[in-house]
Amino acid sequence: MPIHRGGGAWWRGAAVYQLYVQSFADGDGDGTGDLAGVRARLPYLAALGVDAIWYSPWYPSPRSDAGYDVADYRSIDPAFGTLADADTLIGEAHAHGIRTIIDIVPNHCSDRHPWFRAALAAAPGSAERERFWFRPGRGPGGGLPPNNWRSIFGGPAWTRARSPDGTPGEWYLHLFSPQQPDFNWGSPDVRAEFEDILRFWFGRGVDGVRIDSAALLTKDPLLPDMAAGGEPPPGTHPFVDRDDVHDIYRSWRAVAGDYAGRVLTGEIWLPDATRYARYLRPDELHTVFNFPYLCCPWDAGELRSVIDATLALHAPAGAPATWVLSNHDVDRVVSRYGRADTSFGLDRRDHSQPVDLELGTRRARAAVLLTMALPGSVYVYQGEELGLWEVEDIPDELRRDPIFHRTGGADPGRDGSRVPLPWAGTEPPFGFSPPQAAAQPWLPQPKEWRDLTVETETGDADSMLELYRSALRIRRAEPAFGDGPMTWLPAPDGVLAFDRVPGGDGGGVRCVTNLSPVAAELPAHTSVLLASGPLDGGRLPPDTAAWLRTGPTDGGPGLRAANRAVGGGPGPRTANRAVGGARN
Ligand code: NOJ
Repeated sequence: MPIHRGGGAWWRGAAVYQLYVQSFADGDGDGTGDLAGVRARLPYLAALGVDAIWYSPWYPSPRSDAGYDVADYRSIDPAFGTLADADTLIGEAHAHGIRTIIDIVPNHCSDRHPWFRAALAAAPGSAERERFWFRPGRGPGGGLPPNNWRSIFGGPAWTRARSPDGTPGEWYLHLFSPQQPDFNWGSPDVRAEFEDILRFWFGRGVDGVRIDSAALLTKDPLLPDMAAGGEPPPGTHPFVDRDDVHDIYRSWRAVAGDYAGRVLTGEIWLPDATRYARYLRPDELHTVFNFPYLCCPWDAGELRSVIDATLALHAPAGAPATWVLSNHDVDRVVSRYGRADTSFGLDRRDHSQPVDLELGTRRARAAVLLTMALPGSVYVYQGEELGLWEVEDIPDELRRDPIFHRTGGADPGRDGSRVPLPWAGTEPPFGFSPPQAAAQPWLPQPKEWRDLTVETETGDADSMLELYRSALRIRRAEPAFGDGPMTWLPAPDGVLAFDRVPGGDGGGVRCVTNLSPVAAELPAHTSVLLASGPLDGGRLPPDTAAWLRTGPTDGGPGLRAANRAVGGGPGPRTANRAVGGARN
């Protein structure tokens, strides 16, 4: 079975595909993606060359926040299938050599979760309410929220519950929408429950978990008001990145350690690098998402700084970096790179800027070669491999994202990156749903996506899909790629060039990305392995990247020895390449 290759550290250099179930493929024709759709497309993912699939939440959920409001952590949303379907899917994926990572949402659940229903029905001070944050209100009649905290989705972070007799009662905390009550991680019930949930899924063959909102779980039990005037100093925030959150991950690491090769990956947005690195201590998480890279503008100097900072931060922990260009919370990368401002910020999503899709696509093609050449693991958000753009013109009445609704439309929200995938054909639903499906896709697809279907792009050497397929194939086959050291090369302004050199005497790979406005000379090489666009003789045009084969004479043994010294040696990389040079 291919899945057994590479042993326990498969995740150190893996290519992980983020699969957003409701928008991937609809097997039953109801306009929403499902597990039957995924099963039918596993050969597509295997041929694409990914090592693992991370599923955004697949549990029963009223989907107030697209499934990040979980009503039952040990089951599958009936709209997606059954637990038996999930078991089958996990097994079939393993047979294709693809591992399964699921999303665990521990900060909050759905207001339909049985524990929250029981808490609403119970009295103030009860054990049922102790699992959440219920508090009396302030002011006359308790009519004001217990403190001034704001929801991350906009509006207050507290909602007043009704007592069982229908009168207004205590308030409960929700850092996201009112339909997502926060768990109280001071409650032993909550701790035991999540450890059991981890065991439930690891026992079913799940290979890893992505931990949602991982830095938010613990709160200051005194629930103090947020002081006016900006963010508190690191470590003093009442609900972000508190020191006591690390106890949770130590116990989760121990749970994961009872199973072979399981990985814990944290969704952690923190500005402070030192605080962020603490999650990677050897007895905590294996990896964390690299949001500074995802948010970085298309600028050589800034990208190099982020890459260096990322590697410096991971080195002491011996943890591999992750490299992410997009996900279901951020603007699609071809749109972002096609704007005048190519950076991304969660709090300043702006769809009013003009987008040059041709430019954005050219840059996104270059960015994927840069990203996949960096040391560590890489994430591909579904549709990125097709070059899909952010759909900015979804009619307001069809938008589902609570961010759009809770900000009164001031923030367009995330629906534009979640539109169902185009697979084939020339009209919506582009093969997303079966022929003669009863329903339209749950979000409308642009008619222009007829040029971006899997069917259209397959076999077109210039398509984004064929670029991703080639890049993933080479990345998997090249001993220099994945986990291991890298060495920057001297390069003209605006050009990023670095070497990846494997152990032994074989040649390495040189990655060159031109972010400058003028063509750049290619550095020494023996052949071009892959380029994101046409080369101009021996020159690399603007917004283009190339992977170059280097022979032993291009870098020389001295350079390879230096690489090993800087990068800390080939240990984990060798482990990843244990069998036949394959990563898993
Ligand atoms: C982060 C998830 O990625 C996002 O989609 C979700 O809305 C929030 N956490 C709340 O669960």
